[in-house]
Amino acid sequence: SRSIRLAVIPGDGIGQEVVAQGLKVLTAVLPQDVKLETKEYDLGAKRWHATGDTLPDEELASLKNHDAILLGAIGDPSVPSGVLERGLLLKLRFAFDHFVNLRPSKLFPNTGTPLAGRPEIDFVVVREGTEGPYTGNGGSLRTGTPAEVATEVSVNTAYGVERVVRDAYERANARPRKKLTLVHKNNVLVYAGHMWKKIFDKVGAEYPEVTTDYLHVDAATIFFVTQPERFDVIVTDNLFGDILTDLAAAVTGGIGLAASGNINPTGEFPSMFEPVHGSAPDIAGTGKADPTATILSVALLLRHLGYETEAARIEAEVAADLEARDGTARSTDEIGDALAARVAG
Ligand code: IPM
Ligand code: MN
Repeated sequence: SRSIRLAVIPGDGIGQEVVAQGLKVLTAVLPQDVKLETKEYDLGAKRWHATGDTLPDEELASLKNHDAILLGAIGDPSVPSGVLERGLLLKLRFAFDHFVNLRPSKLFPNTGTPLAGRPEIDFVVVREGTEGPYTGNGGSLRTGTPAEVATEVSVNTAYGVERVVRDAYERANARPRKKLTLVHKNNVLVYAGHMWKKIFDKVGAEYPEVTTDYLHVDAATIFFVTQPERFDVIVTDNLFGDILTDLAAAVTGGIGLAASGNINPTGEFPSMFEPVHGSAPDIAGTGKADPTATILSVALLLRHLGYETEAARIEAEVAADLEARDGTARSTDEIGDALAARVAG
């Protein structure tokens, strides 16, 4: 019989609440014969305050021993900025070589987006996940003096760019519109930007059916708002992808609906699925957090593990549930219960 060994990192703030709903829906959608084994990891702000640990080696090794990871959110105002982000979240992405950070955007009904009524919006951002300005390659000189100098070097390797660009071509080629847009800033970032474009064009020769386009990142932000229908698959650098996907979420239905997968396509390491949003400490514990982004991340997780029918059912039921909304506010639990009932039924 089939089984899923799932590592769960609820993390900080609303992470705990949304992950509980994600697991509820996962349990409801799985066929009877699939055995779900979950192991929860106590990582995040509380753990750091108690022990000073962010992600010890033994836990990293234990996490590796799973089919996938479900993560809620990381970060808390009581912890200095960067400690948990670098020591936990980015450490996982780098250690497990999550070079494809997959962030789909669809226009859902009844979300109050400024783009309401344009159902043809359906694109996916393939954000590079292991390089760019996220590598920690930098430093500070004369720190704390008026003459302080800080550098934060963007690292781009031909190997790293080619593998993510190729993944994006594969995804574009498998979609009906077969269109791939490279977003960078090669009018200013002439070293990295030109290398990305060169590799994009070279790999593109192997995908004659894929239509290609290039946009500078600043121009891309305009089109995300004015003409989002023009996008199908987008491939971009780690930092540009971070910024663009928050914008994408905001214009297509809100950050409460935006799902993501940190994917290691080779299967050497477990992939990790998480909502795009953060820990939202301001609403933690109030029951106001929307668990939909986590539930849609569970759909991406299921698709990654080969459960396409179940993934598609979750996505269809999220759309149907939003369609049926009458405008009354629902709590985190109520949304989770409604979706669990729908996917089971
Ligand atoms: C995200 C987050 C992270 C990122 C932070 C918390 C390190 O903003 O997943 O988009 O920048 O990648
Ligand atoms: Mn982000």
